[in-house]
Amino acid sequence: MSALQDRIALVTGAASGIGLATARRFADEGAQVLIADLDAAGLTRALDAMPGSRHEAITLDVTDEPAWIALASRIERQFGHLDVLFNNAGFGKFGSIADTSLDMWRSVIGVNLDSIFLATKYMLPLLEASGHGSIINMSSIRGIAAAPDCASYCAAKGGVRMFTKATALECAAAGNGVRANSIHPGHVATPLTAAAHGDPQVARRLLDDVPIGRIGVPEEIADAVVFLASDAARYMTGAELVVDGGSTAQ
Ligand SMILES: NC(=O)c1ccc[n+]([C@@H]2O[C@H](COP(=O)([O-])OP(=O)(O)OC[C@H]3O[C@@H](n4cnc5c(N)ncnc54)[C@H](O)[C@@H]3O)[C@@H](O)[C@H]2O)c1
Repeated sequence: MSALQDRIALVTGAASGIGLATARRFADEGAQVLIADLDAAGLTRALDAMPGSRHEAITLDVTDEPAWIALASRIERQFGHLDVLFNNAGFGKFGSIADTSLDMWRSVIGVNLDSIFLATKYMLPLLEASGHGSIINMSSIRGIAAAPDCASYCAAKGGVRMFTKATALECAAAGNGVRANSIHPGHVATPLTAAAHGDPQVARRLLDDVPIGRIGVPEEIADAVVFLASDAARYMTGAELVVDGGSTAQ
């Protein structure tokens, strides 16, 4: 049997990059996937690229609390439970602390971290109802090891790492069967990073940071997310899974 046969999975930021690759891998493994994103046109393209026909596209701003409440009601009515929640949507804005406006700071914390609090708050009853719910939260190597000129991103992704552990312990104490783990990619080629990887100087610096000598591809992160989502990871909760070609081992 496939690893996620007939599981209901919600993926945010699924119109592009790592989210799209993971949604496709979830579908390959037999899941019915709800792909959510702010980008409605991107979602339509993503749905066309999914194997199988029972998946659904949901236009969602992950920072919008009423939208999460409405989505939880919809999933409750339609399925009665949720098996997998991959909180993936996010982005970074780069610059020194002095050059970071409060609005910029709040937008980075909002999309990367507040969104995960909202998703967890409103989806937890549905994950509990599944009996084996799995939450995977997108962090980064920047949630473990900082770098200059990305303080808001480092703070957000570090917050994701600890919020995940707090979620895992709360769920374990409640005995509700829900696991929560964070995933920490290194440098991955996606539309988010295309500009940086396209600049020869930046690309060389990034490559120098990767012991195995190449930038990752979204499918390599997706494979690790499938593992965390599946029963193969049934004894993992509160863990941080690093997928970075060795960057943080240095
Ligand atoms: N690419 C990398 O090197 C890398 C490394 C570590 C972590 N990450 C993290 O992985 C995640 C996915 O990044 P990616 O590289 O695939 O980027 P991407 O830009 O290809 O995909 C991100 C998706 O999130 C969506 N999104 C942005 N804001 C949203 C919002 N408010 N509501 C709903 N959807 C929203 C975008 O529309 C886009 O489709 C991000 O959280 C990113 O921080 C990426």
